[in-house]
Amino acid sequence: FVEPKLQGQHWVVTAGPTQEAIDPVRYISNHSSGKMGYAIAQAAASLGAKVSLISGPTKLEAPSGCKRISVTSAQDMHQLAMELAPNADVFIACAAVADYRVAQVAEQKIKKHEDAMQINLVKNPDIVADVAALNENRPFTVGFAAETQDVEHYAKGKLQKKKLNLIAANNVAVQGQGFNSDDNALTLYSADETIPLSLATKVELAQQLVKIISDKVSDQK
Ligand code: C5P
Repeated sequence: FVEPKLQGQHWVVTAGPTQEAIDPVRYISNHSSGKMGYAIAQAAASLGAKVSLISGPTKLEAPSGCKRISVTSAQDMHQLAMELAPNADVFIACAAVADYRVAQVAEQKIKKHEDAMQINLVKNPDIVADVAALNENRPFTVGFAAETQDVEHYAKGKLQKKKLNLIAANNVAVQGQGFNSDDNALTLYSADETIPLSLATKVELAQQLVKIISDKVSDQK
């Protein structure tokens, strides 16, 4: 068995949550820990790839051998991803990007006056779909799908709709895997293949995933 070597390749990974400001002291976010994306970045770097890790706010240390670029909002993550992706061989979207942002961020801290208040939200750009839609220099593009039901149906839908090469699906309704956990189980779907990766640590899964992607990328060349 020969380890795939990723020397000379550039991999871009998004990881963690995004934070969408409401006012100078408040934001909307989610419980993503960033662990899966960081493990993928680390696994690709240890096989010799140049890795750019576009990370939302997390508590994690930067993986060794990776260039971590920290961002806060989905719009910041989108801008950076669109800059880096055309120079990448592989783009892996692991971030839990906020689907919506606040339409008008208040310049000053919002005071409590009324008994009820509304915040208007507008849709954020879909980062992985925009990368996959690149006409020139499009990287091999991988997405994730965290689902609580009908995992296969929704994951295959996202594979098609976002025009991805591969999607890694997990059922986040199952205790002890997915969000915030150290473990996960994934099913990979491409246009013509289904590959189950059984429950393991995110570090082990990341290594398996990176090898599968690396094989698919070399098959394409
Ligand atoms: O549609 P959904 O958010 O479930 O899709 C998840 C996949 O899309 C993940 O790979 C996630 O990183 C990516 N995504 C993105 N930009 C968004 C929303 C999701 O890159 N605005």
